[in-house]
Amino acid sequence: MFKVAVFVGSARETSSNMKLAKALAKLSAGRLEFSFVDIASLPFYDDTLWNDPPAEVIGLKRQITEADAVLFVTPEYNRSIPGILKNAIDWPSRPFGESVWTDKPGAIAGATGGVSGTAAAQVHLRSILPVVGVALMGRPEIYFQSRPGAIDDELNFTDERVKTNLNIWVDQFVQWIGRFAVARVVEVEDERKTA
Ligand SMILES: Cc1cc2nc3c(=O)[nH]c(=O)nc-3n(C[C@H](O)[C@H](O)[C@H](O)COP(=O)(O)O)c2cc1C
Repeated sequence: MFKVAVFVGSARETSSNMKLAKALAKLSAGRLEFSFVDIASLPFYDDTLWNDPPAEVIGLKRQITEADAVLFVTPEYNRSIPGILKNAIDWPSRPFGESVWTDKPGAIAGATGGVSGTAAAQVHLRSILPVVGVALMGRPEIYFQSRPGAIDDELNFTDERVKTNLNIWVDQFVQWIGRFAVARVVEVEDERKTA
């Protein structure tokens, strides 16, 4: 089963995006294994800190390296992504030439109370992530309107149509990750043949 490192762009205890991420984790159980990344304890990006990198940064890079894929679940702040999430994207992209995002399959989701479902924030993520090297799944997309009761206390999606669409999203994400896993196996076999 593929391991997915999950980045939630909100540190709020009652975050609707964390709830969406946890509900997705439940829905995809048996197909994907989610591990949640603690981005709130990261320091603000500072190049000089690479002289003696903080344990949180080393841990973050390791968590991404060990994952088969990454998932970003983001709120929209003023038509973009929250600073806390951008900070968590910047750290693993450095030192220059040592980005751990490279060729890591990824996907995006987002929740907001508004009808736009974080569309503007997701557009920004779609321009940032390929630049740092994430191999981003184009579709299906998740624009989640977090109405009361949309996800129940047991982390189930209550609307059957939404659930069906999200199940399709999970299957597509599994397939997307699989493409990169196959490519890695072929690469290793080719290296062995030429060694
Ligand atoms: C600084 C700030 C800016 C916001 N800007 C937007 C916005 O541009 N579009 C939107 O749909 N919601 C916006 N919101 C509302 C958030 O989407 C909403 O608070 C959401 O629940 C935050 O995610 P969370 O529940 O995971 O913490 C904004 C909230 C804050 C605090």
